[in-house]
Amino acid sequence: MNARGIILLTGGAGFIGSHVAVEVAAAGWIPVLLDNFCTSERSVVGRISELVGGPVRCIEADIRDAQAMHAAFGSTPVHAVIHLAGLKAVGESVEQPELYHDNNVRGTEVLLTAMDEFGVRRMVFSSSCTVYGTPQRLPIDESHPLSAINPYGQTKLDIERMLDRWVDAGSERHVCSLRYFNPVGAHASALIGESPRGIPNNLMPYVVKVARGELSELGVFGGDWPTPDGTGIRDYIHVVDLARGHVAALERLDSMRHERINLGTGVGASVLEVVHAFERVNGVKVPYAMRPRRAGDAASAFADAGLAERRLGWRARLGLDEMMRDSWAFATRDDG
Ligand code: NAD
Ligand code: UFG
Repeated sequence: MNARGIILLTGGAGFIGSHVAVEVAAAGWIPVLLDNFCTSERSVVGRISELVGGPVRCIEADIRDAQAMHAAFGSTPVHAVIHLAGLKAVGESVEQPELYHDNNVRGTEVLLTAMDEFGVRRMVFSSSCTVYGTPQRLPIDESHPLSAINPYGQTKLDIERMLDRWVDAGSERHVCSLRYFNPVGAHASALIGESPRGIPNNLMPYVVKVARGELSELGVFGGDWPTPDGTGIRDYIHVVDLARGHVAALERLDSMRHERINLGTGVGASVLEVVHAFERVNGVKVPYAMRPRRAGDAASAFADAGLAERRLGWRARLGLDEMMRDSWAFATRDDG
């Protein structure tokens, strides 16, 4: 491998970060992970190493710990940071808004200070389509109005604005905020994927647990939405496509100041389409029952993915069937 430089991935042991690490390595960079494992497992580091064909370094640290961050940047020359570390559970953010502000927003401040100390000028940031609030028009392009409908979403908006100020305050700083739609799926090897703790909030991990018999049935949150089959529509994107989007952003960072770019497929799927695709592709049943709408949900949300194609030369390649297949393969892997 002809190494090009070190990319520090905060939250690199998480669901998305682990896949980004593999793609970053495949593009010839050296990924270094930094994680406090608050929502991930240490064993993921070994699995990433297996996938990239050599040991991957992981610094165990909290991004809010200024001393640890100083030490991390002091120990390794970093070309760019991919900043994925963050808490992401909407319901938990409503219960503990201060924790979300402290972890996500203040954590990013501490990270930027450490980057400044060592002259690190490039960042790709994990933002979210949650910054668009309730969709006013579809598809959602990057000029769609912004609003926060929960404390988690507020942290993403606060961080994007913080990154504007950071870019303005120094010379030659480059940021790309990637606004993810709904990442699902897993690596085709089934070595890495999504394994949330406890009862999942999100559709895909819930479907998987029902299919495994760990939960009795899926509650479909609303069958009376103004959509063709009455269930909510979202833009599900395969996590490997999403990861490739980070590499595309990394390659073009030096031509940006702070750009915000959607990562989605541009195609929506309803809850029932997801359930039926999962059953068909994997040959398993997913019992479900209609439930009342969930507070804060929207009928439909899907991306205008045009800017990503124009600006990054990237578009999603994998479809719903691959997302279903790979999620199930990861969930039913033989851990040995
Ligand atoms: P995840 O929980 O699997 O990964 C997050 C990682 O960050 C974990 O490994 C966790 O241990 C680490 N982390 C959290 N706080 C930290 C801290 N203070 N210091 C060090 N490490 C810390 O979640 P994910 O799905 O991989 O999400 C990654 C990023 O993408 C998050 O910022 C999330 O908000 C964002 N995002 C996720 C989704 C989604 O649906 N998965 C959608 C949009 C945006
Ligand atoms: N759904 C169900 N039953 C469930 C879980 C979800 O019917 O048990 C439905 C939801 O009502 C929605 C769709 O499945 O119509 C997707 O729900 P998710 O919770 O998987 O995803 P959301 O689009 O609601 O939101 C998630 C995060 C947001 C983030 C967004 C985009 O919770 O913070 O993805 O990344 F902004």
